[in-house]
Amino acid sequence: MTEATYLHATRTAYDIVAIDYERLLRDELNTKPLDRAMLAAFAESVRTPDSGPVAELGCGPGRVTAHLHALGVDIFGIDLSPEMIAVARRTHPGLRFEEGSMTALDLKDDALGGVVAWYSTVHTPPELLPTVFAECHRVLAPGGHMLLAFKAGDLRRHLDRGYGHELSLDVYWMSPDHVADLMSRAGLVLDAQLIREPDESEKPRQGRQAFFLAHKPDGS
Ligand SMILES: C[S@@+](CC[C@H](N)C(=O)[O-])C[C@H]1O[C@@H](n2cnc3c(N)ncnc32)[C@H](O)[C@@H]1O
Repeated sequence: MTEATYLHATRTAYDIVAIDYERLLRDELNTKPLDRAMLAAFAESVRTPDSGPVAELGCGPGRVTAHLHALGVDIFGIDLSPEMIAVARRTHPGLRFEEGSMTALDLKDDALGGVVAWYSTVHTPPELLPTVFAECHRVLAPGGHMLLAFKAGDLRRHLDRGYGHELSLDVYWMSPDHVADLMSRAGLVLDAQLIREPDESEKPRQGRQAFFLAHKPDGS
């Protein structure tokens, strides 16, 4: 799949579901203590006084951006979908959200103290993941941190419905070892991996969920 086809399909699908996605997922983190623990560990890493701002890449309606902001993180959100950005701005009027793609970020080199990609690479065709990780590495300042959440496995699934709407979107479950290897090739150093079993709300359609903490080493 070309980059343009992936970006068009993803933008179109999330424009359609934006309002219902926000409504259905708004309180989801309340029931996921391990996910919150990874967000809390990331927040602690990027909250130091001299680290730069943090971007949530693929922020959707901004619920994770807002969660990290509430933990004291200087954060803004970026998303491909104009409707998602509109929902995020309406729902969290005190926070900054901008349109953009994590395959080509409109950010300077070394600009950020942290990046979060929370289930936002799940639609990225595997052949484009090196581009996304290279962009994460480029925009992170040396010593900056990355948090990645994704669906663990080895599967491509085509969705024709989601969040109560007809749509057309591919979802990829990725092997944690393969993702770790791609991140390492992009120059990112893995600090921690959490692989958890699907919880009751995720069964039976979902599998294991993966959360990686990484950083860009000094001098790279
Ligand atoms: C499953 S949602 C996750 C949203 C948010 N992180 C959350 O957890 O609620 C995936 C989001 O990633 C966005 N996305 C996918 N590919 C993207 C890209 N290349 N650049 C920016 N956003 C992207 C989609 O538009 C969508 O809003």
